Amino acid sequence: MKRIGIDAIALAVPEGYVELADLAHARSVSPGKFVDGLGVERMAVARAHEDPVALGANAARRLFAMSGADTSRIGLCVVGTETAVDHSKPIAAYLHGLLALPTACRVFEAKHACFGGTAGLLNAVDWIASGSARGRQALVVCTDVARYAIGSAGEPTQGAGAVALLVSENPRLVELEVGVTGSYARDVHDFWRPLHSKEAVVDGHYSVQCYLDALTGAYEAWRHACGTDYSEPIARRCYHVPYGKMAKKAHRHVMALEGKGEAEADASYVEEVGTSLRLPAQIGNVYTGSLYLALASLLEAEASRIEGKRVALFSYGSGCTAEFFAGRVASGAGAFSRALRLAEPLEGRRRYTIPEYEAIRRADADADRRPIESANFGAGTVAFLGVEGERRVY
Ligand code: CAA
Repeated sequence: MKRIGIDAIALAVPEGYVELADLAHARSVSPGKFVDGLGVERMAVARAHEDPVALGANAARRLFAMSGADTSRIGLCVVGTETAVDHSKPIAAYLHGLLALPTACRVFEAKHACFGGTAGLLNAVDWIASGSARGRQALVVCTDVARYAIGSAGEPTQGAGAVALLVSENPRLVELEVGVTGSYARDVHDFWRPLHSKEAVVDGHYSVQCYLDALTGAYEAWRHACGTDYSEPIARRCYHVPYGKMAKKAHRHVMALEGKGEAEADASYVEEVGTSLRLPAQIGNVYTGSLYLALASLLEAEASRIEGKRVALFSYGSGCTAEFFAGRVASGAGAFSRALRLAEPLEGRRRYTIPEYEAIRRADADADRRPIESANFGAGTVAFLGVEGERRVY
């Protein structure tokens, strides 16, 4: 049986962020609500040139540079996003060009709210397992800019960033349990974004309930799919992280399904979930990439300690669909994670004042129509320069 999974990971984040304590102060809210109540310290804020294409391309470029992988071996390129830049042309097509991927390549964008990245990943795994890959590898990029209305309850749960995954045989980071996943779907209006709007519409507390209902459904389906393998212990759990506290609620929920009470759940939370929330707390919600940012955070913090151990993953996409699955941290993943320098893109970020952040948000309104601007964004960085003849230029 082929060993298939996540061979390498790389991140890209915008150059600036807002400190949630600053935002709380500006909105006359206690900082404790955002920092402890929601579990977020900083949220990344994307400027116009840091659109989902640019973030995705920068994450993918870093993936190839840091992992030593070869772009000529890519036969599948999928982008998961819920903040697409065009109704027809996929972000994957831009990445195909910017990365000079082979022409013999299947290229598309996947959408189902925050589940789009997982749709890409599981599709890539099945593509390799089926034999269609014929020795080639898949590039899966999750990229989003999360926006809610200024002053709304969702505002402190924004964020922006991209996570690029290389999916291959004999993976160096996490071997996934192929074919053993638990799926769930239900047509609900918990969170969505109408075609005319750049900002999401959300029924916040209902969305939390939909997430937990989906977790029950996906977890039960996964347990059924596992059969006797279900009893093998899980060492770490990564959940979709719209904000850190949601992962805590999710963990309590799963533990309850396993017949454990709140005190027992909270006792295992620090060890089983804690390190996966470090990077999300510094970046915020990156929608499709959120689960994989949690996985990167876990590997960055303790990959050496958990080599050979089983990790569970839960992906949720509003609307809604979800999947629960598991994998095993590869032998050698500790040293390889260190070589990937997963958290390096967060170094040297700029702290925006609230007036600067609000000005960036106001500029969003016509960002997709702005004429080309020449600016120096640093060698090797992909940036959105503007539009010429309705064509986006990078
Ligand atoms: N100190 C410490 N904690 C405090 C506090 C203080 N001073 N004040 C309040 N809190 C706590 C509250 O007790 C609450 O904790 P619990 O959830 O454990 O009860 C927490 O802070 C949040 O308080 P509220 O529930 O009153 O917050 P709110 O109503 O203003 O908004 C929210 C919360 C609904 C999550 C809102 O931020 C939102 O709509 N976010 C966007 C939607 C979202 O992320 N949904 C998640 C599920 S859907 C999904 O996962 C898909 C996705 O990516 C969007």
